[in-house]
Amino acid sequence: MLFNVCNCVSASSLAASYGPLCAGGAGFVSAVIATLAAIAKTAPAKTLRGAVPEVDRLAVRMVTDNIVIQFVPTEKRDGLTIERKSGNTSPDKPPRTILNGEWGLAMHAESKRGSETRHVLIDFGYTPEVLLNNMAILKVDPSRFDAIVLSHGHYDHFGGMVGFLNATKGALKAKLPFYVGGEDCFCLRRNPGGNFGALDRQAILDADLTLMMATEPAIVADHAFTTGRIGQTSFETPLRATDEILGIFDGFGCFPEKMPAAKNTGGYIPDDFEHEIATTYMIKDKGLVVLTSCSHRGVINTVRQAKLAAGIDKVHAVIGGFHVVPPLGDDYVNKTIEEFRELDPDYLITAHCTGDRFYDLARSALGDKVIHSAVGNRFVFDAN
Ligand SMILES: [Fe+2]
Repeated sequence: MLFNVCNCVSASSLAASYGPLCAGGAGFVSAVIATLAAIAKTAPAKTLRGAVPEVDRLAVRMVTDNIVIQFVPTEKRDGLTIERKSGNTSPDKPPRTILNGEWGLAMHAESKRGSETRHVLIDFGYTPEVLLNNMAILKVDPSRFDAIVLSHGHYDHFGGMVGFLNATKGALKAKLPFYVGGEDCFCLRRNPGGNFGALDRQAILDADLTLMMATEPAIVADHAFTTGRIGQTSFETPLRATDEILGIFDGFGCFPEKMPAAKNTGGYIPDDFEHEIATTYMIKDKGLVVLTSCSHRGVINTVRQAKLAAGIDKVHAVIGGFHVVPPLGDDYVNKTIEEFRELDPDYLITAHCTGDRFYDLARSALGDKVIHSAVGNRFVFDAN
């Protein structure tokens, strides 16, 4: 166990460089300094007011995803081109590197409006090795990033972050905005397997990123917007995949004074994922493209929240993890599919944590608008 349940712990293997945070001492001082630095380097996100931005084109590249698929060719649909990487990565040489799949998600979104281009990284996957390997093969250039969005505080979405920040030191744009859905994103999390979330605030600050708290819908890099807190408006209920605890432990964690008092119980509580956010684009003449990441608040709830934030009804595509997985059974899966039938998106692109059973049943109910994602796929949405 990496962390105890009280606010007084000894240095863990995860954070050996931080002293204990317990009734004063050097660790306490460094935590206070970290608090002040965090406050000084945290900016309120530019809240979405009025019409959402529109883009002419959006390319979403799956940099980290669970599976690798070969031999499926590139295809063109109405308003969507699906580019699939396959074949040798080192022609005429022995194999050295290839795209890797892992349990995790990272997406690179490249959008265009007129002559203006924006690049956003959404999540970091589970390990930096896979993220950096795939970025290199896919020629994703971090120096072009205009913003980073972290969807929520689980390792399969930010495990690659510290290694990525170390590898890109000096290469990222100065004060690059880093969006999270609120202080809750920093809370320590655990699942039955052990620790499953301890977001390194110091690494974010040391990398000269600007931490943006996007509890409300917020504009990202002029072209995209985050959903803000995802409401519970459908039949879905959040799966309590992890527990969370308030407090600072060895320099990691969330500040209790910035959190609802009711959550400050001194122990682990079921995670309600109130900090989870999705990233959305509006494609001119087509509709919304919702990048769900992991849908712990429910994929239908997530899409509804994106529509509400945008004030736009038409959903062109939903892409990401849908998280309709066991113990959720066929009844739940089929209810979700019926809700999607109502929402009537043009494309449902299932990635990461969606669940094979959902894919199978959705594909047979909704046809080939349901598309399986894989590592390296690039989904290019064009306006008319
Ligand atoms: Fe996930």
